[in-house]
Amino acid sequence: MAWEYLGLNKEPFLSINPLLMQEELAYFVNREKELQLLKRYFDTNISQHILISGKAGLGKTSLVCYLGIPRENEDFIRINLSESKQQEGQILDLITHDLLEFGCRLKIKGAENLGEDFLYCKKETEEMAGDIKAGVIIEGKVSSKKGTEKTRRRLPFDTEQILGKILVAVKNHIKHPPIIFIDESDHLPESTQETILLQIESLLVSNKCKVFFTTRKEIENIFLGDVNSKYRSRFTDIIPLGPIKPSAGSMAKLILEKRFEPCAGENYQYPFAEETNIFLEDVSNGSIRELLRYTSFILSEASASKLLKPINVDFAFKVLSEKQLLASGIESKEYQIMKILELKPLSPSDKILQEKTLFKRATLNILLTELDKKGFTQKICEGKKILHKLTPKGKWVLKSYEITRL
Ligand SMILES: Nc1ncnc2c1ncn2[C@@H]1O[C@H](COP(=O)(O)OP(=O)(O)OP(=O)(O)O)[C@@H](O)[C@H]1O
Ligand SMILES: [Mg+2]
Repeated sequence: MAWEYLGLNKEPFLSINPLLMQEELAYFVNREKELQLLKRYFDTNISQHILISGKAGLGKTSLVCYLGIPRENEDFIRINLSESKQQEGQILDLITHDLLEFGCRLKIKGAENLGEDFLYCKKETEEMAGDIKAGVIIEGKVSSKKGTEKTRRRLPFDTEQILGKILVAVKNHIKHPPIIFIDESDHLPESTQETILLQIESLLVSNKCKVFFTTRKEIENIFLGDVNSKYRSRFTDIIPLGPIKPSAGSMAKLILEKRFEPCAGENYQYPFAEETNIFLEDVSNGSIRELLRYTSFILSEASASKLLKPINVDFAFKVLSEKQLLASGIESKEYQIMKILELKPLSPSDKILQEKTLFKRATLNILLTELDKKGFTQKICEGKKILHKLTPKGKWVLKSYEITRL
C-alpha cells in the first residue's frame, strides 16, 4: 500500500493477530472494567484459575497479554495451544516444554536438568527428540555421552512428573504461583477441545500455578447457572468479553488513530469521514479483528484509486460489497426474512412473518437463530415477547445483497 497516500511514513500496524509484543501493547484501547478485574487475579498469590470467554476476535488474547507481556520475565507464560501437535497427551507436553523454557530463561535451579529428562523421556516414547522443541533448551548437551548416561539413570519419568517438578521449582524461585495462560484452545479440532480440561487436570488441581484459559464458547450461563458444570468445578471466576460497544464511530476512530498516529508524517490526516467510522463500527459488529480487516481493504482500494480524503461511506460500502465481504453469508431464505424485518422487529410466531415467507414457525426459529449467530439480527424484548431485529450490520448486508446478488 502507498502509505504516502495516508500521509504516513511507514506501514501502520493493522495486523489481525493478537497484541503480543511489548511495543504492540500501545495500540490497546478500552476494556477498563475487564482489566481491573483481571489485574486482581494477576496479583493474587492464591492458586486460582480464571476463564476468559468471548466470541472470535473480540480481544481475549490481547486482554490477557496486555497485563501479562510486561511480566514475561517474572511470572507469566503464554501457552499457544494451536502449536500443539493435536494428539491426546500432546497438550501437556507443550505446557511442560514452555515451562521448562521459562525456567531456563530465568536460570531457575534444576530447570536445565529437568529439560534433559524431558527430552530423553520424549525421545524414548517418540524416538524423535529432534522433533520436540525441548532440544532447544538443552542444546549441545543432548549429544554428550555422559549426559545421556546420567539422564538414562534417572529415567523413567513421564511428562506429568516433570511438569510437577518444574512447577515446584518455578513457584519456589518466584515465591508465588506463576500464571499459565492457556490460549487459543478454539484453534484445535473439536474432539481435542472436548478433552482439554481433562488433559490439563493435573495442572488445575496442582495448587502450584494460576491458570487463565480463553474460550470462544458461550459458557457464561453454564458457569454462572450450573453448579455441576465442569467449568465451575475447576475455575474460580469467569470474565466475559463482550463486543466493543457502538459509539457513533468514535471507538472505530480511537482504535485506528492509535495505529496511524505513531507513523504520521507531515501530511497525515485521519482518512475516514465521520459516517465511514460509523459504517466501520456497524459492519464489524463489535469485533476489532473485523474492523482492522475491513479497514485494510478500504485503504488499499482508496490508495490504488488515489481517492480524495476523507473516504466517504459510499466508497467504503462499495469496496466491501464488491469483495463479497458483506452479503456472501446469506441465503435467499434468510434474505426474505431480513427484508420483512427491515420494516419492523417480529417474532417467529408472528402471522405476518409466516404468511409473507410461507415458512412455518419451526423453520423461522431455525433461520432466525442462524441469522442471530451471524450477527445480522438480534433478539430484543418487548413486554413478554422476544422479537428479532435487524442489526446495523444486517442493514448493510441486506443492501449489499440487493446490489450484488439480485
Ligand atoms: N483492546 C484492544 N484494543 C485495540 N485492539 C485490540 C484490542 N483487543 C484486540 N485488538 C485487536 O483485535 C484483533 C483480535 O484480537 P485477539 O486475537 O486478541 O482476539 P481473540 O478474542 O483472542 O480472538 P480468537 O477468538 O480468534 O482467539 C487483533 O488484531 C488485536 O490487535
Ligand atoms: Mg485469541
